[in-house]
Amino acid sequence: MNHFEYGPEGLACEGVPLARIAAEVGTPVYVYSRATLERHFTVFRDALVNAGVVDPLVAYAVKANSNVAVLKVLGDLGAGADTVSEGEVRRALAAGIPGERIVFSGVGKKREEIAFALKAGVAEINVESEPEMELIASVAAELGVRAKIAFRVNPDVAAGGHAKIATGKSENKFGVSFAEAARLYANASNNAALEPIGVACHIGSQITDLEPMRAAFMKMRGLVEQLLGEGLSLERLDLGGGLGVPYFNHPEPPPPAEFAAMVAQVTKGLPVKLAFEPGRVIAANAGVMVSEVIHVHERPEGRKFLVIDAAMNDLVRPAMYDAFHDIRPVLPKSGEAVYDVVGPVCETGDTFTRDRALPPFGPGDLVAFMSAGAYGSAMASEYNTRPLVPEVLVDGDRYAVIRKRPTYDEMLARDLVPDWV
Ligand code: LLP
Repeated sequence: MNHFEYGPEGLACEGVPLARIAAEVGTPVYVYSRATLERHFTVFRDALVNAGVVDPLVAYAVKANSNVAVLKVLGDLGAGADTVSEGEVRRALAAGIPGERIVFSGVGKKREEIAFALKAGVAEINVESEPEMELIASVAAELGVRAKIAFRVNPDVAAGGHAKIATGKSENKFGVSFAEAARLYANASNNAALEPIGVACHIGSQITDLEPMRAAFMKMRGLVEQLLGEGLSLERLDLGGGLGVPYFNHPEPPPPAEFAAMVAQVTKGLPVKLAFEPGRVIAANAGVMVSEVIHVHERPEGRKFLVIDAAMNDLVRPAMYDAFHDIRPVLPKSGEAVYDVVGPVCETGDTFTRDRALPPFGPGDLVAFMSAGAYGSAMASEYNTRPLVPEVLVDGDRYAVIRKRPTYDEMLARDLVPDWV
C-alpha cells in the first residue's frame, strides 16, 4: 500500500497534488511520501516481531535512498542502517542513527573508511574476503580497538532476477565462500583485534520467490550451528535484504508476513538475534519521479516518441536493468496512444520504455514514474551536465524540498581550470 492516489487535482502524494510540487519546485523531481516510508518500515518490522523474531535489527539499506531526511524518518522509528561506504555511514550518523544500529558492508572498504566506522562504533563490519579481514584487523590494532565482524558468506544460491543485481552465486564478487568460512572464523577468533560476532549473507535484490531465500537461510543456520558448536560466541545472523516489490507488471512478490513466517520457521530455536538489510521494500513504492512532456515527436514511419524532461541520468533503472516503471498521467486523461518514452540525453539507451500504451499526451503534460523511491535519486548523476534531480518529502498537507536542484553556477564552480590551461 502507498499514499499516491488520484484526487480532485490529479495524482497526489498524501495531501499534496504532484502538479503543485511540479509548478513550485520544477521538473524533473522526486517526491516521497513520509506515511508510506513509515508504513513500509513498520509493516516489515512488525511482521518479523509478530512471527516471533525477537528484537530484530532492521538496518535499512541506505543505498536504496540515502537522503538524510529519509534516513531520519526511518531512524526515528528505530531503523538501523546498512551502509557500504564512509559517506553512507556519515549520512546515517547525520540522521541520528546511532553507531550500534549501523552495519558496514561492501566489497572494497578502504583503510580510512574502516577507521571511520570503528571510531563511530558500528554494530558490525561485514567482511567480504580474507584480505579484507586482515586489513580490518590491522586498522583495529592501530586504533587499539576490537572490531566486531561478521563474514558475509556467499551461500551459492541463484536468486533469479536481473543478472546485474544477483549476488549470491559463488561466481559473484560478494562474500567468502561457504567452504572457507570455518577456517576464517577460526583465524579471526585467534586475532586479538577481531571479535567475530555474526554471520551475514545477502543473495540479491528484487527477489519475488521465497524459495532461494529459504535455501540460503537454511545454509546460514547450519553454519551458525556449526560455529557455535566450535565454541564461537556468535550473537547475530544478518540475513541481508532483497525482498522484491510490485513494479506493476512484475510477478507479485511475497508480502512481508510470508517472508517473516519463513524466516521464523528457518531460524526457530537458533540462539542468536537476527538482522535484516531491506532497501527496496521500504523505499521503492514510497517515491515517484515527476517529469514534464517536452514534445511529442512522430516519425513518418509511425513511431511516436514522448520526449520528456527526465532522462537516464535521473532514473537509470530502465536503461541499466531493463526495469519496468509504471508511468501515470498526473492529470487523468482518456484515450490511448502508443509511445516510446525517451529523455533528452544523447544515447539510444536513454529510453524509459518502448511501445507503451499511455493516455495521449501533449507538451506541458506531467507524467509520474511510479515505484521510483528506491535506486532512483540515489543512482542519479549529472551526465550531459543536467542538474542533479531534486527531492521532495511530503507529510500530510505539507512538503519540503529535501535536496535542492543545484544551480548551473554551483555545478560549474566545482570545475577548476588551472592557470596553465
Ligand atoms: N544488503 C546488501 C549487502 C546489498 O548489496 C543490498 C543491495 C541490500 C542489502 C538491499 O537490497 P534490497 O532490499 O534493496 O533489494 N540498483 C539496483 C539494485 C541493487 C541492489 C544492490 N544491493 C536496482 O535498481 O534494481
